[in-house]
Amino acid sequence: MASVDSQRRVLSGMRPTGKLHLGHYHGVLKNWLKLQHEYDCFFFVADWHALTTHYEDPHGIEQSVWDMVIDWLAAGINPGSATLFLQSRVPEHAELHLLLSMITPLGWLERVPTYKDQQEKLKEKDLATYGFLGYPLLQSADILMYRAGHVPVGADQVSHIEMTREVARRFNHMYGREKGFEELAEGAITKMGKKTGKLYRTLRTRYMEQGDAEALETARALLKEQQNISIGDRERLFGYLEGGGKVILPEPQPLLTPEAKMPGLDGQKMSKSYGNTIGLREDPDTVAKKIKTMRTDPQRVHRTDPGDPEKCPVWQLHQVYSDQDTQQWVQQGCRSAGIGCIECKKPVADAIIEEQRPIVERARRYEQEPGLVRGIIAEGCDQARDAARDTLNEVISVMGLHYDL
Ligand code: TRP
Ligand code: SF4
Repeated sequence: MASVDSQRRVLSGMRPTGKLHLGHYHGVLKNWLKLQHEYDCFFFVADWHALTTHYEDPHGIEQSVWDMVIDWLAAGINPGSATLFLQSRVPEHAELHLLLSMITPLGWLERVPTYKDQQEKLKEKDLATYGFLGYPLLQSADILMYRAGHVPVGADQVSHIEMTREVARRFNHMYGREKGFEELAEGAITKMGKKTGKLYRTLRTRYMEQGDAEALETARALLKEQQNISIGDRERLFGYLEGGGKVILPEPQPLLTPEAKMPGLDGQKMSKSYGNTIGLREDPDTVAKKIKTMRTDPQRVHRTDPGDPEKCPVWQLHQVYSDQDTQQWVQQGCRSAGIGCIECKKPVADAIIEEQRPIVERARRYEQEPGLVRGIIAEGCDQARDAARDTLNEVISVMGLHYDL
């Protein structure tokens, strides 16, 4: 089995919804940019997930895929640091999804809050489909496939990660029990040497009897350092720590994406469905125009009326884009009617245009050479498939489907 350090591995995906906006940039993408240097990252386009809600009109999906990947690259996601791939081009995801579906109780899927919520919200669509019910399980397959320890997601996705943990636990419990597991685990402890073996036992007891999470962490770290035991024994001892069998599919943790402070043009959260967005790659004139026509404090009708920044969405943008001096200038100027709104908006528009300049620049190259983008994704898919195959082979084998053909 391939040895994957799941604590170092991050996986995340986005449904292809078209061009990204500044809300995505300040929320998800900036987080990915940071993570790509700290972890072994897999980022992918969840095009099958898009199909669960857009099965009637799937023709826009392809364009959305390429637009989104160009946005990632233009924002600075580096294919040298992270593996970028397309879900449907790694069909192993479908195979794992199918195998996991065998052990997943229907009730788990029906109880995931997004199931009813989304059906309610997207009333115009018929989401009483098999595919839509299985949405979170397909997501579980995406995650478990790469043995990812951390999954950056927004708060709305946490229930999917929770379910993924339950599926992993059930899977390990069912298929991680080799014959003679206890004896094999005990044997593995002896192989670590007297002192380490004793320490392992103490930590295990502390966790099993008192639920001491710190002891669990220390024991895991201890196992990671062991040079003289086989990978199989290590996996056994990871499983033995928590009383179960071998850990075949490690349980992931959600890594909550910092809530984007990015307000939309109307002061609500920036979102495509509110029609209040500024694109990540917008031409400077459009940015300037969008900011210029932005709503301000409604009490400030005339230039001579004092205003209140707290009631103005422009001020929210200043909080994202402006330094202390400028912010002070806004507060004073607005409340004393010392500055006009057009004047106040200028530094915000300039800052956004400045932020986008290198992004637009980088994107241009990819727009002009689509082959470049396709090449990056093709290579990422190859790498992802290799990693996926390792997990799948083990899953197949413990489920008794390893035929010597
Ligand atoms: N459901 C996620 C969303 O809508 C997208 C997604 C699919 C995903 N598979 C994933 C996110 C696996 C993280 C991990 O945002
Ligand atoms: Fe808003 Fe600035 Fe006008 Fe005050 S001066 S209302 S903060 S745009």
